Amino acid sequence: MIKLENITKIFGQGDNETHALRGVSLFIEKGEFVAIMGPSGSGKSTMLHILGLLDSSTAGEQHLHGELVTALDEDAKAALRNKNLGFVFQSFNLLPRTNVLENVKLPLMYSDIPAKNWDTHARKVIEQVGLSHRIDHEPSQLSGGEKQRVAIARALVLQPSIIFADEPTGNLDSVTSGQIMELFDELHQAHGHTIILITHEDDIAAHAQRIIRMHDGKIVV
Ligand SMILES: Nc1ncnc2c1ncn2[C@@H]1O[C@H](COP(=O)(O)OP(=O)(O)O)[C@@H](O)[C@H]1O
Ligand SMILES: [Mg+2]
Repeated sequence: MIKLENITKIFGQGDNETHALRGVSLFIEKGEFVAIMGPSGSGKSTMLHILGLLDSSTAGEQHLHGELVTALDEDAKAALRNKNLGFVFQSFNLLPRTNVLENVKLPLMYSDIPAKNWDTHARKVIEQVGLSHRIDHEPSQLSGGEKQRVAIARALVLQPSIIFADEPTGNLDSVTSGQIMELFDELHQAHGHTIILITHEDDIAAHAQRIIRMHDGKIVV
């Protein structure tokens, strides 16, 4: 489902060059739950952004669902991304002064799903993350864990096959982190989502079936 072959990523030019990825090859199957670990600056986020079609590699080949995405232009990548991929970040990225329902509806507004169905789709994933009782609340009225649940619902609303999460528990206490990881477990086990999650905590990574370790822009074994 996901294949990277000898992917490199260089930021900047000349004296300012940073080799963020130095030849990464990787295969992830449909339905896998993978954790990416490694020290700060080892290239984890860069790899996640490339896997998630949020950024392009400098060289190498990348396939998604059997399609060579390295050859696609930005519009084609964006279309593929919106249709297949969901994202959750450490900092929630919710719209302030906008309630849970409207935050979760946002991706639907940029999809080809008819407006009359938006409410139903949004309510369904809000229920799935256990936040139906907070549907009218704004982010400022929610706890950190609840905010992350909203972000997860928003990532789910277009029913992506793959969910990418960059340190999703990085701003949460350990009890709340555990609850959020239980939600990821459920998405993986009960709903068959492929999950690719970055963390630097062993107990978070323990939820995954496979751990990929990075160091200095390479995968180490
Ligand atoms: N947009 C960027 N411009 C320049 N350098 C970057 C950029 N993003 C990341 N880097 C550099 O690439 C390397 C890998 O970064 P990153 O993938 O964010 O690491 P990690 O997520 O493992 O902490 C670091 O040296 C970082 O400074
Ligand atoms: Mg990072």
